[in-house]
Amino acid sequence: LLSQVSVLITLILSTLLYAEQMLSGAEVALVIFCVMAAFELVTPLPLAMQMLGKTQKAAQRIRQVADMPPTTLNPLESAALPKQYDIGLDNVSFRYSEQHDWILKNINLSIPQGSKIAIIGISGSGKTTLLHLLMRYYDPEIGQVLLNRQSLKHWHTDQLMTCFGVLSQRSQLFAASIRENLLIAKPEASDKELTTAIKAAGLEKFLSYLPEGLETWVGESGVKVSGGEARRIALARLYLKNAPILILDEPTEGLDSDTERDVFNALSVFANNKTVIMVTHREAGLGLVDVVYQVEQGGTLVPGSDSLASMKSFL
Ligand SMILES: Nc1ncnc2c1ncn2[C@@H]1O[C@H](COP(=O)(O)OP(=O)(O)OP(=O)(O)O)[C@@H](O)[C@H]1O
Ligand SMILES: [Mg+2]
Repeated sequence: LLSQVSVLITLILSTLLYAEQMLSGAEVALVIFCVMAAFELVTPLPLAMQMLGKTQKAAQRIRQVADMPPTTLNPLESAALPKQYDIGLDNVSFRYSEQHDWILKNINLSIPQGSKIAIIGISGSGKTTLLHLLMRYYDPEIGQVLLNRQSLKHWHTDQLMTCFGVLSQRSQLFAASIRENLLIAKPEASDKELTTAIKAAGLEKFLSYLPEGLETWVGESGVKVSGGEARRIALARLYLKNAPILILDEPTEGLDSDTERDVFNALSVFANNKTVIMVTHREAGLGLVDVVYQVEQGGTLVPGSDSLASMKSFL
């Protein structure tokens, strides 16, 4: 309103000055445009002031995370990644800190390249923690995690992550288009590669309903897509990354039985020549694996029964 009144006053004054022949027609227009431009410049300022508090708090939170000490230390010089991806746990014991109880105790496990294992156990027994140790999110307090018989500490964590494709119950999407969300897994992927991954993940039908297709914006943290669609986008990412070791942490949790079947079918084709380490509560997923282990409540790992019927008490 203030800007409109100001423009009106300027218009009246400059018309009077024009009548007095103190301003030319062009100068009248110039003065009015200057007043309008001046208001356009200051109009967003109150909104910016409102956002300032929120932005400062967000920056504070980011700084807190950035200033946290890392959970693992990278070597000064990282070795080249091995060609063979055999994984081993050598007498591994882990707790989150000295103030916490032990989560995993004396774990010995050998996962040769190409083998497919499932890890079961009750909630809170340490299954996700075990997966995180394999990817070196943390180092074990006792024992070591090995890749091709060498400690994971030999490699930079960024480098190690190129070996792992992760699918979990939380499909993290970013406020960007579906295309950009897929390209996170392989920024240089061609349109043909994207199409193959979309097909493999069963996303074709969903995309065909969207007027903007791959350019559709998924919203803040992917709020505009359903849980099942988000999981399929994550599956397509897994496909694009094409890492030799698949880490699946309850990959179908929260999905309906049709989508669950689709996801497991897609995974069974895709995982053909890869190592699979899967945590699951679902019987359906066990068709994907050859061996089952169980994390017991005390934190030890024991061979699970290969009879599905006898395992139902854990599923
Ligand atoms: N960052 C952390 N700091 C401290 N304790 C943690 C942390 N993450 C997990 N824990 C604890 O470690 C234990 C094992 O957690 P974990 O997530 O590995 O269990 P889980 O077997 O994957 O359970 P679920 O089946 O519910 O996913 C739990 O008691 C949990 O509370
Ligand atoms: Mg878990």
